[in-house]
Amino acid sequence: MHPARVYRSSGIHDPVLRRGYEECRRATRARGEIEYAVSLLLPPPLRIATWALYGAGVTVDCLADTAQPSDTKDAGRAERLEAWISAFDADLRDGRSTDPVRKALIHTMLTWNLPPGFMHTQFEQLRLDAHGRRFATWEEWRRYNGLVTTPFLLRAASLMMRVAGLSAEPESIASGVPEAAVAWQTAADAILLTDALVDLSEDLADGHVPLPQEALDEAGVRRADLLDRRSTPAFEELVRRLADRARGWLDRTPVPPVLHPAVGIALGAYTDLYRLRLRAAADAPAALLLRRPAVPGGARLRVLLPARTRVALAWTLFPLPVRPCPPPEPAGPPAGPARAEATEARPLTTERRPVVPPAPHPSGARPPRLPAGAVPRHVAIVMDGNGRWATARGLPRPEGHRAGADALVDVVHGALEIGLKYLTVYAFSTENWKRPADELQALMQEVPRQLRRITDDAKPLDVRVRWAGLRSRLPADVIETLVDAEQGTRDRTGLTLTVCLNYGGRAEITAAAAHLAQEAVAGRIDPASVSEHAFARHLHVPELPDVDLLLRTGGDQRTSNFLPWQATYAELLFLDTPWPEVDRRDLWDAIEQYARRTRRYGSVPRIPAQARPAHGA
Ligand code: FPP
Repeated sequence: MHPARVYRSSGIHDPVLRRGYEECRRATRARGEIEYAVSLLLPPPLRIATWALYGAGVTVDCLADTAQPSDTKDAGRAERLEAWISAFDADLRDGRSTDPVRKALIHTMLTWNLPPGFMHTQFEQLRLDAHGRRFATWEEWRRYNGLVTTPFLLRAASLMMRVAGLSAEPESIASGVPEAAVAWQTAADAILLTDALVDLSEDLADGHVPLPQEALDEAGVRRADLLDRRSTPAFEELVRRLADRARGWLDRTPVPPVLHPAVGIALGAYTDLYRLRLRAAADAPAALLLRRPAVPGGARLRVLLPARTRVALAWTLFPLPVRPCPPPEPAGPPAGPARAEATEARPLTTERRPVVPPAPHPSGARPPRLPAGAVPRHVAIVMDGNGRWATARGLPRPEGHRAGADALVDVVHGALEIGLKYLTVYAFSTENWKRPADELQALMQEVPRQLRRITDDAKPLDVRVRWAGLRSRLPADVIETLVDAEQGTRDRTGLTLTVCLNYGGRAEITAAAAHLAQEAVAGRIDPASVSEHAFARHLHVPELPDVDLLLRTGGDQRTSNFLPWQATYAELLFLDTPWPEVDRRDLWDAIEQYARRTRRYGSVPRIPAQARPAHGA
């Protein structure tokens, strides 16, 4: 079917949107010939979705890969990538874009109701690539794969399952079938290893060797030989062995137990084409150093022709069971009042559940009645003492974090009850990576689990979630949950809960300073006009107000690199209670203590009742 007909039959009439899909289609065809061939086995609405997802990834990858003369090492690429990703996040929030590729991508995400963080796993890979990816061991290679490729594969699989009329999110696909997570990881490994061989010449041209150093050492292959495109018998043997290994993994690719027959046929064709690709690589190993191997046309057609006939029959017998639900297209020119109406942001989740009031405390305790204005606007908490609380009970430290996370949920209910507008919690600092693996794992599981409890379960609270922190080193699924929570709760007005995760105060200030410096160098701001207000716009969450009350539990009396910019004038309160023993009543007590304090901000007291001399802060 001609692309123009595909767009027409998918209801794509807006010329900019059409151009975006067309750019994605071309990028998919050029860089993902197998993915493109398989997309043609799908009905038009799903076909264009494949183009948008794959093509947008390729487009951003090219943007990050194409070095400009002005680039210093990888910095220019990384910056272009970050700019694109930020623009994507902003566009997704607004539900519209002026960039054709982003427009197509957002259209696909809204049409299929994909979670807003969907693309972020892929962006994470691109981020690592932009800085020059290098693996010392198979272990590292696998870890990268587990972080990036598997989550993306699971998301794609869940889209296909949904098309098959089944509701399955990636996590349930992985947990529904025994050892499915391992099986999906293996499938992702097979695809990544195949592509590493096939794309070798392009990666070498960029100065990257996409194979673990360990594999080269074992086989007696020198990195320098590869970069000089010198083939050796050891290299040829290595390619053959790796191709065998990838083929073995591919043979173990799981097919979900219940699948639409056409989707099953498409998946079968996909793995068969990958097998052909591997054979082409193994048949001429030396040539891999110079060019991508071409899959012989005849063999390709022997896979695709029968698949085309069979899918056509399968789609006729079992039409697409799920109707795509595209967002409305703009009706008029992109200006004036018509624009506002036509491009009004559409909620990202089609059924937005109504929020519920906070549940009362089991003891029946009610929040104190305080005079208007006495409740602080912004409370920030260092939730300390989890580990010691657990150890004192003979429990492993991760249990302390689990109990601590439950305590936070109760405190959030209490914050809503007393009418607090901003609550910011220190969940994980950039220094916390030094902790043992089991503790890190417990924390990385606990944060998404509790966030879903607060924002996303059957009874979501009126809580808007924000995340302050760095992306680097965080698992992709955690980033995805945070971004999803931010997007999914952006219309909520009760309490703003800012989760500081992978956060460091000095790093936040340094990053803001670096942004400002870049803006100044680019001539977009005048250094003389930089004010505190202008500076704060470059912090992780620019709209976060100053902290009124900073509370730390667990007995220590320090602020530990937590919100140094925002908490300059905060009242400090230290509790000996370990965080897991805290509940909303402690928050209310702290707020009552705060209400009794007099804040001066370096001036004279507002209510100089029993006036003490006021010097400085
Ligand atoms: C400090 O205790 C606490 C942490 C590093 C983690 C706190 C995180 C949570 C309570 C989960 C939060 C959940 C969401 C949704 C934000 P510690 O281990 O340093 O205690 P110690 O000083 O006794 O060792």
